[in-house]
Amino acid sequence: MTKAIILTGDRTTGPLHIGHYAGSLANRLKLQDSHEQFLLLADMQALTDNAGDPAKVRRSVIEVALDYLAVGIDPAKSTICLQSHLPALAELTLLYLNFVSVARLERNPTIRQEIRARGFGHAIPAGFLCYPAAQAADITAFKATIVPVGEDQAPLIEQSNEIVRRINAGAGKAILPEAQAVIPSSGRLPGVDGKAKMSKSAGNAIALSASPEAIAAAVKAMFTDPGHLRVEDPGKVEGNVVFTFLDAFDEDRAGLEELKAHYRRGGLGDATIKRRLDAILQALIAPIRQKRAQLAQDLGYVLDVIRQGTQKARERTEATKQEVMAGLGLFTL
Ligand code: TRP
Repeated sequence: MTKAIILTGDRTTGPLHIGHYAGSLANRLKLQDSHEQFLLLADMQALTDNAGDPAKVRRSVIEVALDYLAVGIDPAKSTICLQSHLPALAELTLLYLNFVSVARLERNPTIRQEIRARGFGHAIPAGFLCYPAAQAADITAFKATIVPVGEDQAPLIEQSNEIVRRINAGAGKAILPEAQAVIPSSGRLPGVDGKAKMSKSAGNAIALSASPEAIAAAVKAMFTDPGHLRVEDPGKVEGNVVFTFLDAFDEDRAGLEELKAHYRRGGLGDATIKRRLDAILQALIAPIRQKRAQLAQDLGYVLDVIRQGTQKARERTEATKQEVMAGLGLFTL
């Protein structure tokens, strides 16, 4: 039986953080054993909101690849490839742009939200507005049916599926499969400051390569329950960032439920719950940091992984592009 195909990607804008881990890396690790998996270093998509800083985008290609390998993505099971070096993705993007309206792009909830967050005003880069079509190209060029992503990405998968239906209708047969987003049930991890999204640019992230001191400092500064002034006071668990993080990373579910009950009742200090979270994050990150430092000593190996993965992906995506062109009845040579 052929394995179902998975495709995901990350914009190369900086090292990944534990929000990425909870949001999709953990799922990708699990799925690489049972599926054929492609991971896209999305440097072209990174440019859609970082055109002013190509050096960062370039540097981050290696950072993200190091993060993948350090968390345990195995190049023998998962193919790591570089978006800018897959011409079929750019070609399919151009094709798909004719199968989506500007109004539909503007209505995409993720795009709307990101435009607001980035303060583009009336100067929205055309590449940014159109990146849902490019992401559809990413997904469909691999014929992926499963896309493990954070929940903010769901509208992009939906829009990709719309394009798939249009292409298939145009071709009169199901050339491209629709894809399904795999979203973690825990929801999105907030920033350490309690803001809705963890991001490096907001300065509220814990990197997968964070030092023990940086982890400790982030946990120490975490927002808890402002009404919980004395240890004996009852405390709130909902909206308490420390508990949100424990929900995402504490594997001792029964112990965590007891801790929550105790906190609600009163008599449990913030220092105690922070100590527990610190220990869990230190244990999660220490082996990643160590492996990452080791890999960083051998960048030749990392480059080889990217080169080989990109070569494999190039053949795969080119074949799909040809199939779509032919399916639509376009001229092919
Ligand atoms: N948009 C994704 C993000 O910002 C990155 C990405 C690019 C992606 N291409 C993709 C995700 C294809 C899933 C599938 O995180």
